[in-house]
Amino acid sequence: IPTNNTEGPLTGQKVVVTAGPTREYIDPVRYISNPSSGKMGFAMAEAAQQLGAEVTLIHGPVSIPKPRGIETVEIESAADLFEEVKKEADADIVIMAAAVADFSPQETSRQKIKKKGAKTELSLTQTQDILRWLGKHKQDGQQLIGFAMETEELIKNAQTKLEKKNADWIVANSISEPDAGFQSDTNSVYLLDGKSQQQFKGSKKEVALTILQTIFG
Ligand code: CTP
Ligand code: CA
Repeated sequence: IPTNNTEGPLTGQKVVVTAGPTREYIDPVRYISNPSSGKMGFAMAEAAQQLGAEVTLIHGPVSIPKPRGIETVEIESAADLFEEVKKEADADIVIMAAAVADFSPQETSRQKIKKKGAKTELSLTQTQDILRWLGKHKQDGQQLIGFAMETEELIKNAQTKLEKKNADWIVANSISEPDAGFQSDTNSVYLLDGKSQQQFKGSKKEVALTILQTIFG
């Protein structure tokens, strides 16, 4: 493995990585989100850089340090993320590690909603499935790597996502496994290519590097 970004299997390749959660605002002080820490996505960005790629990391609100020497773009909502991904859709490799909210409030109140007299139901709309959009607009030779977070039927559900979204690879995360999931520094994943799967365990940094070396090494 090269220790800088001068020579490696991804030298000359443009890689876009999305990471972290999105926030879908209900009003200025409330939002719908998830516990994604951004660690796995940041690790994927660092691993790609280590293998020589030119990396752009588009990420939601996280509290971990920005990786050094990587161009970062901060977003909040799924809609923001979609806009930024579209700008980079000519990348050689897109890695969708972001935990994109599936639903967003139909309306965002400009003022804080007061509890007195507030309605107790929230109308939601589904967000754009960004990976699916990328899969539909896939460029020649472009590689799309998605993630799948599951609590049951990990492989089966991840396989379905790979097919539906026209992804080339899916990294399947089981949230129910020990030492894996949103906040953990370690992970346990299956890498699927539609035909077979391989399991990797270790720190998120190790797992990220192993995934990219397995695919591109
Ligand atoms: N994804 C996306 N846009 C969305 C939702 C998800 O691009 N609006 C991407 C994620 O970044 C991930 C993959 O799709 O790479 C799978 O995300 P996941 O939440 O596991 O699957 P969903 O398709 O959203 O289905 P569900 O949450 O119902 O299991
Ligand atoms: Ca989802």
